[in-house]
Amino acid sequence: MATQEQLIRNAQIVMPSGEVELGDVRIVGDRIADVGSVGTVTASSDATDIDATGLLLLPGVIDPQVHFREPGLEHKEDLHTATRACAKGGVTSFLEMPNTRPLTITQEVLTAKLALAAEKCLVNYGFFIGATAENLPDLRTANPTCGIKIFMGSNHGALLVDTEAAIEPIFATGHRLIAVHAENQARILARKQQFAGQTDPAIHSQIQDCQAALEATQLALKLSKKYQRRLHILHLSTGIEADLLRQDKPAWVTAEVTPQHLVLNTDAYGTIGTLAQMNPPLRSQQDNETLWQALLDGVIDFIATDHAPHTLEEKAKPYPHSPSGMPGVETSLPLMLTQAKAGRCTVAQVAHWMSAAPAAAYGIANKGKIAPGYDADLVLVDYETVAPVTRQGLQTKCGWSPFEGWPLTGWPVMTLVNGQVVYNRGQFDLSVRGRALSFGDN
Ligand code: DOR
Repeated sequence: MATQEQLIRNAQIVMPSGEVELGDVRIVGDRIADVGSVGTVTASSDATDIDATGLLLLPGVIDPQVHFREPGLEHKEDLHTATRACAKGGVTSFLEMPNTRPLTITQEVLTAKLALAAEKCLVNYGFFIGATAENLPDLRTANPTCGIKIFMGSNHGALLVDTEAAIEPIFATGHRLIAVHAENQARILARKQQFAGQTDPAIHSQIQDCQAALEATQLALKLSKKYQRRLHILHLSTGIEADLLRQDKPAWVTAEVTPQHLVLNTDAYGTIGTLAQMNPPLRSQQDNETLWQALLDGVIDFIATDHAPHTLEEKAKPYPHSPSGMPGVETSLPLMLTQAKAGRCTVAQVAHWMSAAPAAAYGIANKGKIAPGYDADLVLVDYETVAPVTRQGLQTKCGWSPFEGWPLTGWPVMTLVNGQVVYNRGQFDLSVRGRALSFGDN
């Protein structure tokens, strides 16, 4: 079969320079072949024509923190429903967390998860290996993985590694990236006692308070500096942590923030109750502002959704029996583009935070930019029409979003994964499969 050629014409292209230029993109097979101004890119007569008039073309989103629940928790989500949600949301690659069942803590389980992903995922995939107090050898050798995940707090069972004595050997051994969920478990447990019996979900943000997050981030930073170990701080949630990193962030440390920690705060408990419950919890409006400024200033490097679906039935349990977590992959790009439209940031910054920066941080070659030679992971969005988030439109198995009713712009119209059109104006090509990502010298 001849290599397929496609020509995306007349798109407003978000270039690697940050300029938005009207132009054409030629794709040959799975790669971008040419990018040029309108009419300057020639394609063969049998190339598939994609008219992108009026649409914005961005690099596909790389979501570097998701929980897709398979294997073991498929009643909440599975790799098919999650990646259909990705395709609809313009997410062309994801990095997934190890708290599936069995836990992703050995090569054997990682290998099995990769095989499942090859079978089911509509977009590209990578998986973290989870740290326990006992699996140092696996953490050194597991392959391929985007990095080691440590739950310093907010978890139960084997994935919780919550004392300095247990965490330090992980920093001291090997060289690959360590990503931390930074909350101090001892403080959380003490505060749980203090607030016992209270059922208002807003208490969640007081139990797992800013100080609990700060203390764990301080410990992770201390160990990272001691061993000069590559550290990534997941879902930074507080202004005080952002201020700390502004003062003290070694070159080998990166940090991310979720859209929800930028645009939601503790007021959300009053409107959506336990649907607003996540770890680390939502904070104050002042925290929203400080996190935004840190993102704009480059103190925070990129965006991740922490897509963590639970069923509505599970979420309906009274606090504290309700589980923490909210879905995010199909709303993250429109949420951020709506912020850009409102003047909070630029479209180029959104593309940097959601594509180029995570690719660079995890050493994912050939992704995150629209340039010749890069993989054709692309999303065409409508940056003019405003449409609300609706429950009926959602692909995630959990079937709800904390943003229902929010009027958003920048909804994906078409998503391409390695040159294959996986989503096109409401239709999915369910035969498309993503590929395993590789991670530089990780
Ligand atoms: O809210 C959360 N839910 N935060 C996490 O870190 C884990 C996640 C989950 O897996 O449900």
